[in-house]
Order: sequence, then structure tokens, then C-alpha cells
Amino acid sequence: MTDTLTVLGIESSCDDTAAAVVRLNGTAGVLSSVVYGQTALHADFGGVVPEIAARAHAEKLDHCVEDALSQANLKLSDIDGIAVTAGPGLIGGVLSGVMCAKGLSAATGLPLIGVNHLAGHALTPRLTDDIAYPFLMLLVSGGHCQFLIAKGPDDFKRLGGTIDDAPGEAFDKTARILGLPQPGGPSVEKAAANGDPKRFKLPRPLLDREGCDMSFSGLKTAMLRARDGVVAEKQGLTQADQADLCAGFQAAITDVLVEKSRRALTEYLKLNPTTPTLAVAGGVAANTAIRAGLQDLCAKHDVAFTAPPLALCTDNAAMIAYVGLTRLAKNDVDDLTLSARPRWPLDNTAAPMLGSGKKGAKA
Ligand code: KG4
Ligand code: ZN
Repeated sequence: MTDTLTVLGIESSCDDTAAAVVRLNGTAGVLSSVVYGQTALHADFGGVVPEIAARAHAEKLDHCVEDALSQANLKLSDIDGIAVTAGPGLIGGVLSGVMCAKGLSAATGLPLIGVNHLAGHALTPRLTDDIAYPFLMLLVSGGHCQFLIAKGPDDFKRLGGTIDDAPGEAFDKTARILGLPQPGGPSVEKAAANGDPKRFKLPRPLLDREGCDMSFSGLKTAMLRARDGVVAEKQGLTQADQADLCAGFQAAITDVLVEKSRRALTEYLKLNPTTPTLAVAGGVAANTAIRAGLQDLCAKHDVAFTAPPLALCTDNAAMIAYVGLTRLAKNDVDDLTLSARPRWPLDNTAAPMLGSGKKGAKA
């Protein structure tokens, strides 16, 4: 095997159809990363419709792969391996990606690598910042929220996580009940910029419980009550009400994530890492207030903090290609019997969580 390895990555586990090319040549670099979002297709339904998502992936994957190759100025014959998200996620979408990757592998003879989507998010800081193991990872997305100690590419210890909803779901629900567009994270963040975070008294769930498990469903309900209270009083919501509700919600989520990160850091620091690092990844890691809260926490504890660029926080295929590269470098590849897995925990030894994102299959 040569020193330079180039992998095509494919991602279709939720509502983004993505393809990317990543090359390892000493360090890893992203040669192209193409994402076709499906927001408009799901806009009328208030959430991702799995059937619509799967069909759109099946229609777009070929074009997406062609775009990723042409933006990298490469042909399939320049590629050394094909990495694809094989789970967890919405099964129809995962299957579309796996079938596309299998087709390419069968036609070209290139090795096929089935990648865990969560490992893609969790290892992104190694792709972007080349950080060393071990590091503490807060993976926070539309379907997941967990603290992991990443000790190696396939060695994750889960310290805790949400027992019900994921923060991204709570952002999306908040946007929905306030009449803001989906995905909710960016629109709630935008509205919050002009709001007063103290006007509404919102709960910080599970802070009274030891450890770093989290819960966000009560916060969703509290938001609904707060909105209904304003509507009952004024027969509607002003923009200022919307902004204050969003600011209060974002502050509550940030407080919970920062305090639980402090506890997770305490656990992780017991390992005596030589260069302690907290990394955050997943769509919610794109939130500036949350990033700033975590950065402050790390500064106080003399811990390095890293967060990927926004485009690599949300779903993308560069992270999948990167995990594929690390596997291909060890000749750890799959074959055409690769199957799609709707559920696929990173830490098999951890007890299953009660909810871990009620959308469940969303990753
Ligand atoms: O990682 P991701 O793209 O997909 C999943 O694997 O879930 O995360 C999507 C989630 C959505 O719930 C979206 O509202 C949230 O990430 N998100 C944000 C922001 N940008 C995206 N949440 C808060 N603030 C943001 N700026
Ligand atoms: Zn994701």
C-alpha cells in the first residue's frame, strides 16, 4: 500500500446527501466535500419524513458522488477506497448509501468500508486539528448527545448522555412552536441574538443529579408552556417575545451542556491525559453560544478546546471518508456483505440509554 491514500466518502443517514474525497498524505486533507440538503422537501411536514428522505438520497447520490470527484479533480480510478455510513440512522437513507457504495465497489474492485456515523462526528477533530488520543468528546446533534472518551479510532468509553431527547431535537421543536424555519438550530440562534435570556424562567434539567447524564424533554415542555402563557396574555407572539424565548432556551441548553461537560472533564482528567482536550462535534456544535460556553469552561480548567469548522459540525461525508481512511490504512475493510444498521452504539459496553434522541434513528 502506498503512503498516499485517497478515499471517497458517502453519507445519507438522515436528511443530507453528501459525498467527499479525503486524502492522507502525511496528514489528512479534505479535497472536496459536497452536501445536498433536503430541507425544502421536508418543510411542509415539520420534520424529516423517512420515505421522502430515502427517495431523495437514491435520486441524488450519483450526482453528489460525481460532484465530489470533479471538485477534487479526480476520477474513480484515482480513489483507493469507498467509505459509506452504514449506520446508525434512518434505515432507508442508510440503505441508499450502502447500495450506492456497494455498486461502486463491485464495479471498480475498490475496497468498501462501512463507517459508523457517530465515529465520523467523534473523530472529526482529528481530521481538522490532528488532535491526539485520548480526548474528551461531546457529541451533540439532532439525534444524539453523549460524552465519550475517545481512546482510539474504535475505542470509545461513554461517560453519559441524554436519557430522552437530543438538544438538536429541542432546538428544532422550539423553532416549530415559535413559527421559525427548520432546521431549528440556526433560526433559534439567530432570533436569540436579539433576546433577553433572563425574561423566561426555564429549567436546567437533571443538574441536581450526579454524573453527566442529561435530559431535554422537560425543557421542550417548558418552552411550550412559556409560549402558551404569552399567547394567552397577548393573543400572539411579537418578535421580541420570540427572541426572548429563544434566548432563554439557548441559555438553558448552554448551562446544562457546560455544567455536564465540567463533570465529564473531571472524570476524563482522572486518566491524566498529557495534553487534555475537550472536543465538540455534531450539528449543535455549530452554535456560537454553546461553543463560547465550552471554551470558557476549558480555559478555566487549563484544557484545550477544539470545535470543527461549522460545515464539518453538521452532517457531511468528509468525516466518513476520514474514518474510512484510518480503517483502510490498517487494511480493516468490509466486503459486499456489509449491511445497514439503524442502531450502532459506539461504546458497546455502556448500558443502552432510555431514549438517546426520540427520533431514535436520527444520527
Ligand atoms: O449533526 P447533524 O447535522 O445531523 C444529525 O446527525 O443529527 O445535526 C443536525 C442538528 C439539527 O437538530 C439542527 O437544528 C442542529 O443540529 N443545529 C444547530 C445549529 N446548527 C444546526 N443547533 C443549534 N445551533 C446551531 N447553530
Ligand atoms: Zn450527524
